[in-house]
Amino acid sequence: MMNSFGHVFRVTTWGESHGPALGATVDGVPPGVKLDAVMLQHWLDRRKPGQNKFTTQRREADEVRILSGVYEGETTGTPVQLMIENTDQRSKDYGDIAEKFRPGHADITYWLKYGIRDPRGGGRSSARETAARVAAGGVAREVLKALAPEVEIRGYMTRMGIHEIDRARFDWDEIERNPFWTPDQKAAESWAGYLDALRKAGSSVGAVIEVVVRGAPAGLGAPVYAKLDTDLAAAMMSINAVKGVEIGEGMQAAMLTGEENADEIAMGPDGPVFSSNHAGGILGGISTGQDIVVRFAVKPTSSILTPRKTITRAGEPAEIVTKGRHDPCVGIRAVPVGEAMAACVVLDHLLLHRAQVGEGPRGRIG
Ligand SMILES: Cc1cc2nc3c(=O)[nH]c(=O)nc-3n(C[C@H](O)[C@H](O)[C@H](O)COP(=O)(O)O)c2cc1C
Repeated sequence: MMNSFGHVFRVTTWGESHGPALGATVDGVPPGVKLDAVMLQHWLDRRKPGQNKFTTQRREADEVRILSGVYEGETTGTPVQLMIENTDQRSKDYGDIAEKFRPGHADITYWLKYGIRDPRGGGRSSARETAARVAAGGVAREVLKALAPEVEIRGYMTRMGIHEIDRARFDWDEIERNPFWTPDQKAAESWAGYLDALRKAGSSVGAVIEVVVRGAPAGLGAPVYAKLDTDLAAAMMSINAVKGVEIGEGMQAAMLTGEENADEIAMGPDGPVFSSNHAGGILGGISTGQDIVVRFAVKPTSSILTPRKTITRAGEPAEIVTKGRHDPCVGIRAVPVGEAMAACVVLDHLLLHRAQVGEGPRGRIG
């Protein structure tokens, strides 16, 4: 139950952190799209642990295999089955958590709900599952490339703990150049020292990630139950450790007046143009053709080296230190995951739009 998302482009993920493998079954993929494992690996390598000292040293190859739905390098229109083997499951790192509930983790809720759990790790709640989403997102990107090549999806970090980027220094090219996927080079430099000190102290910190979808046509979404913003928010909120999601101005919109918040409309040479984008590219659940902007907050990694109070399964008071290999800021590896979720949602809505309305927006202006 509840392992799938998407309406037409439907992704079901399966597997746990300490099983032999995990993966995704991707249904609704149009036929004739070029697809191979190398294309997907590119995206998985960005999420992969152990890329630098700021991410967990768990050494997963995260090698993806395509088991079905592709013939001679093209999708066949049948379900695409993706599988990633778990190769570095060191269960001994997790010995203590069999009996004690780790604060900030899903151990206690998982146990209360199911009354059974694999004590070696987070099981289905482990962020290992996000590897499957990234693989599915890679499929979505290839389909988008074929159907809507102008669509571009970029994620980046705008805040680490108390430190925020300076938007005046925003540089798209910088995102790929630093380990934090941040567009502000100066921020990247100061975050390195800040995070290193936290890492050495066995502590952790939260982050804010922004994902921008450029080049999406106007008309994606629906006015009520399949609002584009509803689906994007749900997709981002479903990522491990995400505690807040905003579209466009988000929470800050509450502080604006109607005059300030109005994205005024004028007629440009190729159609309507907006003076600003407080709406984050979505009005009434439907894309405007502007950049679609979604932002999410990731909480600090719960696994830290300072002992925290908890209880055992028997209800006895206890202390726990979560040893093992953990990211000091899970927000870093959440960037490619957010991008993948955005790709899946945007493609899903593109396919929905084509099914109901056809190619492109139907209404004409001018
Ligand atoms: C890419 C990624 C990697 C993560 N790695 C860790 C980790 O190493 N240690 C940890 O305590 N939490 C990690 N998390 C967060 C936990 O998976 C998450 O906090 C936990 O499952 C409880 O779910 P919740 O925070 O959404 O309530 C990670 C999250 C993401 C997105």
